[in-house]
Amino acid sequence: MLTTKPKGTLDVYGVDSYHWHWMEEKIRGISELYGATEIRTPTFEHTELFAKNVGETTDIVNKEMYTFLDRGGRSLSLRPEGTAGAIRCFVEDKLYAGVLPAKFYYMMSVFRGEKPQKGRYREHHQFGVEFIGPYEPENDVEVISIAKDVLDAIGAKATLHINSIGEAEAREQYHNVLKSYIGGNLEHMCEDCKSRVDRNPLRALDCKVEKCKKIMEDAPSIQESLNEADKEHFEGVLKLLDTLNIAYVVNPRIVRGLDYYTRTVFEFIDEESLGAQSTLCGGGRYDNVVETTGGPKTGSVGFGMGMERLLMSAKANGKVSDDLVPRRQVFIGYIGDKGRFLSQKLVYELRKCGVRADSDTMGRGLKAQLKYADRINAKYSLVLGDDEIEKGVVQIKDMDSGDKYDVKIDELESFFKTV
Ligand code: HAM
Repeated sequence: MLTTKPKGTLDVYGVDSYHWHWMEEKIRGISELYGATEIRTPTFEHTELFAKNVGETTDIVNKEMYTFLDRGGRSLSLRPEGTAGAIRCFVEDKLYAGVLPAKFYYMMSVFRGEKPQKGRYREHHQFGVEFIGPYEPENDVEVISIAKDVLDAIGAKATLHINSIGEAEAREQYHNVLKSYIGGNLEHMCEDCKSRVDRNPLRALDCKVEKCKKIMEDAPSIQESLNEADKEHFEGVLKLLDTLNIAYVVNPRIVRGLDYYTRTVFEFIDEESLGAQSTLCGGGRYDNVVETTGGPKTGSVGFGMGMERLLMSAKANGKVSDDLVPRRQVFIGYIGDKGRFLSQKLVYELRKCGVRADSDTMGRGLKAQLKYADRINAKYSLVLGDDEIEKGVVQIKDMDSGDKYDVKIDELESFFKTV
């Protein structure tokens, strides 16, 4: 176990860490264009926050949450998603009394004890956006367009699937319709669906078991249960998407695996490059969560985007470059004690001026030092020996072209700032 990471977790290093930086920079830039600011919430929260908001009958809360008692006997859970924490903060700090909408974005690790497979991890990372305050369709569309802009900038190819699941009234009516439909097919469905049919029949719509999927294909659509206000809201969202030329597919099967949604729900799906775990981004409106968390009635809409999946899709579509790793600009080698100390002093000074400089710190001989310079892909190299130090001049080698330049040791800083 000492040398094995926990199942469903990933290490990120080397060129991959630069891919993450690149992705994170795009995300920050685009989120801020929309006026969103970053929110960072705790990695764990009181378990009841997730149970109440994500929903006690959901797989996420029921089967997948990492829950533990702290030393004081309080039940805490590692966050299985980011929305509940953002809303808890909004209510706790009374942000509803400030400027609305509160526009937040986050990039955070999220924990779910799922069965790991390609694109599905026990610790994954989500880029998420939450607009808290508004009810109007403009906000649903702003949030969707942030997701779309990020997907485009990263080079992921995903289709927007959108639906409305209405407010409580529509869902209650649909629950009954669905319950009687599932009731007629119950003997052919999986144990999970059987046990959930009374409490939350909607979950059967995203059951992954093949026989249930087949049965649910012919289930009645939630669209038929929407009231006039729900329909008007959904039409408003679609009209705005048309205005912005954002392509979408209305998909009545999208109901989402979390309980807090009301009205608009959406997913960006990349079936071409992601295989079974093809949902890159999922979100929607959740107009009751601020209130159920103890705040005033407040509309909200947001999404979460799986960052590992985002990068996988971008890589599959050839947008991620391996040239992102910045080269070491110079390697300073040495011969002898004077050279050794001077090489350390010079790299220290060059780094302070913003030059990516490196030296030998492993006690290598000159040949091994130059081999190291090659392996770290340094652009220039130079060697400080007694001779060079005495004359105050050193020869710099361009490691790509083989060109050589004589430069005064005192002028190394200005040389590297201009090449
Ligand atoms: P979610 O659909 O559960 O929504 O997760 C959002 C995204 O996170 C998914 O579309 C997927 O890309 C990624 N994801 C989920 N589980 C895993 C996993 N085990 N491994 C890798 N990636 C995964 C939410 O979490 C909501 N909080 C989204 C939201 C925000 N709705 C409104 N505001």
